[in-house]
Amino acid sequence: MASPPQFLQFVDQNADKFIARLGEAVAIPSVSGDGTRRPDVFRMAAWLDSQLKSLGVTTKLVDLGKHVMDGQELPLPPAILGRIGDDPKKKTVLVYGHYDVQPANKSDGWDTEPFQLVVDEKTGRLIGRGSTDDKGPILGWLNVLEAHKSLGLDLPVNMRFCFEGMEENGSEGLDDLIKSEVAKGKDGWFDGVDCVCISDNYWLNSRTPCITYGLRGLVYFKLTVSGPTRDLHSGVFGRMVHEPMTDLVQLMSKLVASDGTILVPGVDDMVSIADAEEREIYEKLDYSVKDVEDAVGAPITLSDDKVSVIMGRMRMPSLSLHGIEGAFYGAGAKTVIPASVSGKFSIRIVPPQTPEKIEPLVVQYVQQEFAKLKSKNKLKIENLHDGRPWMADWKHWNYEAARRATEAIYKRSPDLTREGGSIPVTLTFAESLGVNVLLLPMGRGDDGAHSTNEKLDRSNFIEGSKLLGTYLYEVAAVKA
Ligand code: BES
Ligand code: MN
Ligand code: MN
Repeated sequence: MASPPQFLQFVDQNADKFIARLGEAVAIPSVSGDGTRRPDVFRMAAWLDSQLKSLGVTTKLVDLGKHVMDGQELPLPPAILGRIGDDPKKKTVLVYGHYDVQPANKSDGWDTEPFQLVVDEKTGRLIGRGSTDDKGPILGWLNVLEAHKSLGLDLPVNMRFCFEGMEENGSEGLDDLIKSEVAKGKDGWFDGVDCVCISDNYWLNSRTPCITYGLRGLVYFKLTVSGPTRDLHSGVFGRMVHEPMTDLVQLMSKLVASDGTILVPGVDDMVSIADAEEREIYEKLDYSVKDVEDAVGAPITLSDDKVSVIMGRMRMPSLSLHGIEGAFYGAGAKTVIPASVSGKFSIRIVPPQTPEKIEPLVVQYVQQEFAKLKSKNKLKIENLHDGRPWMADWKHWNYEAARRATEAIYKRSPDLTREGGSIPVTLTFAESLGVNVLLLPMGRGDDGAHSTNEKLDRSNFIEGSKLLGTYLYEVAAVKA
């Protein structure tokens, strides 16, 4: 069922107003990974809650308790549960999104203030932290609600919402909340949900819309090597003691090869090799080595073969080294021996890998390699957070509805993709609710989520809002 023309028209006519609202959202620096910004994450929750209420959504803010981050106890931002519509004749769609964002400072290399939405009239870009990940998509849903309310149109489905403020930091507390709501049975918030739609991913390129049926999981490690009780002078103690940084760099160098091979024994082996039939799926996607080069800004792909490059993201595990805490990194030439350094790395995992299978392999290997160094320093390994990979049945009616909606708005068939990123709660929804989960992106592959100058194209925000609304009509119409 097509969406009503007055809905599409309303979105076009109110584009500037919608962009202004996105500006309000971006202006709240709701960085979940920075303890000093926690009040802003709460402010963002209150802002979103009041928006939802003003659009006729009944909401409940759920306190998720406290957690410890970098040695500091902090209150977790609330989950916002929402509901609108209770018509037993209609399907019920659960929408998820996250209102927290990654850190951003102008000094990271932004051309504009990250928490001030800049509308670049020349390129049509809406630039600001969270524009594509994930405030733009959340506001897309608000735009749909506002259009229906203003036009006096009934929504074609009942809607449930679940918005969280800790996604960028491992979604702490959310799994338990979902499970406890499900345990309430008929009285639970998610009772009667027929399918889930998450708009928190991106097209593969900047041309072709896609729908997504898989995500990688993640296990995030912190390796700490410590020795002296305080930082030392390298002129006084160099070559007299075991240096933590020397040990740590040795260990980190043994995790992954320059060609991407994961060196922890058993990790790569867990994943099957793609056969010709599977390779063909990747061959057909509208994607090229050039697209990757454009997105990263340099010709540095691991291979010149498109399929091998794309499989690296969609169906292979990857290990990335992220940083070293405690190391000297400033300007100048400080002659310090850092007393304690922590290396951070993570492994993106794919089925049949799980955090439970991967963690012991990593711990054992790192300990073994550390023993080989014959160092008298101390090693500690921690799992900071993890999440399982997810794959959905893309032949489900939920995907059929998304395909039809995409064709209606963009006049072309979407690519069917698996994604390399992670959204920990996806699998929890799929398993706890026992319903199909769909990823329906708003932004493009070159949006620069987590990066400097993150943007959402104006056309993706506007057409994307139409897409989300039209998807609801297609869900209502599709035969379940
Ligand atoms: N929106 C992303 C997930 C994503 C990334 C989807 C790339 C598609 C492509 C999400 O906000 C995110 O960044 N997730 C984190 C999760 C992690 C902190 C557990 C990620 O993937 O790093
Ligand atoms: Mn996201
Ligand atoms: Mn993100």
